[in-house]
Amino acid sequence: MNVGVLGSGGREHALAWKLAQSARAKSVFVLPGNGGTSPNVAVCPTDAEAVAAACERLSLDLLVVGGEEPLAAGVVDRLATTSTLAFGPTAAAARVESSKLWAKRFMERHGIPCAEHAEVATTAEVEAAANRWGGRLVVKADGLAAGKGVVVCDSPARAQEAWHEMRRSRPADEPVFVEEPLDGWEVSVLCVTDGRAYAVLPPAQDHKAVYDGDRGPNTGGMGAFAPVPALGAEALGVVRRTILEPTLAGLRSEGIKYCGFLYLGLMVTDEGPKVLEYNARLGDPEAEAVLPLLRGDLLDAMHACCEGTWDGMGISAGDGFAVDVVLASGGYPGAFTAGREIVGLESVDPDVLVFHGATRRDGDRLLTSGGRVLHVVARADSLDEAIDRAYRNVDRIRFAGMHARRDIGRRL
Ligand SMILES: Nc1ncnc2c1ncn2[C@@H]1O[C@H](COP(=O)(O)OP(=O)(O)O)[C@@H](O)[C@H]1O
Ligand SMILES: [Mg+2]
Repeated sequence: MNVGVLGSGGREHALAWKLAQSARAKSVFVLPGNGGTSPNVAVCPTDAEAVAAACERLSLDLLVVGGEEPLAAGVVDRLATTSTLAFGPTAAAARVESSKLWAKRFMERHGIPCAEHAEVATTAEVEAAANRWGGRLVVKADGLAAGKGVVVCDSPARAQEAWHEMRRSRPADEPVFVEEPLDGWEVSVLCVTDGRAYAVLPPAQDHKAVYDGDRGPNTGGMGAFAPVPALGAEALGVVRRTILEPTLAGLRSEGIKYCGFLYLGLMVTDEGPKVLEYNARLGDPEAEAVLPLLRGDLLDAMHACCEGTWDGMGISAGDGFAVDVVLASGGYPGAFTAGREIVGLESVDPDVLVFHGATRRDGDRLLTSGGRVLHVVARADSLDEAIDRAYRNVDRIRFAGMHARRDIGRRL
């Protein structure tokens, strides 16, 4: 098969790496890819026409869509009338992520555990909601906001301010709602599904804040690890029974065909796991930790999902632990300088993976081209050993201004 992966980050590099291991993969193109991937094909991932044209030109049998923007832009819908199968939900199914309010109402319709919400129109209503939930609440914008659409507030005054600010900064016709603050710890459960059969990947945790100890502003993710020891087999069974299976059944009962990755962002509370959000794709940096653990032929499973013939078999969570440490540009998530030369990659251990997040080639040189530059991924039998192995290799790579958290994997 000729396969394409749509996107240009570390997640797409990891997907291309995993797919290339399949006996059925002839070529694996990345569209548009980065300095770590090849062969790359230049295309704008949200331009459905251009993506369809590229798929035809490359005679792709299957396109795997990496990120939420192309899904919401309807790339999968556009490919329906072409000879390229698309792994990823249609725009209508991707609403589980692209509309937080739609997802919330969906969960309520199907009795899926989640935070209570309120649709409020005035600051007085925001204050009343905060008071109902012990003076705290969460303000959420409906649409895709690249991590900037959620504010957790610890006082009614802060809630009113955040609601105003969200109202002001988001489009006038976009709903902004509030929800009950949940207490507990967070974990991401990712799965592969054709809407009926599914396989659960190793549960993962990411580290969003830029500095050690979860201090500083949030980023796209400074690292991740999997599996999460605190979410054992029994707890994962609860997630399947109370969340994953009702979600898939709910989608089917509403006539929504869902084929792709489904990501459950969960808060494990005293009352059990509850959904914070769905994503319609793999998380980044979770993908870089989870895919190297995955056993089996992912390409085969994806192809069968697209054809509607998958039995849920053939891929499994695998053994051991993986840790993904992000090497970021100094200053990120604020202003930073790109174009720095990266050195030391040749001294990385052969069993350690380096997925590129934001790099480009300039002749023989490899340069930084964004905030989250590289993902150093180590695997081992224990979490501690995976962490040590990852950092031993992190310290061999250098570029001016490089910043990494030193505590990835040490949360629980
Ligand atoms: N109801 C809630 N209670 C407590 N924390 C929340 C709640 N909803 C969201 N959060 C926090 O905000 C973060 C971002 O929210 P999420 O719904 O995952 O949106 P996104 O990832 O699109 O920014 C979560 O990872 C969690 O830390
Ligand atoms: Mg989230």
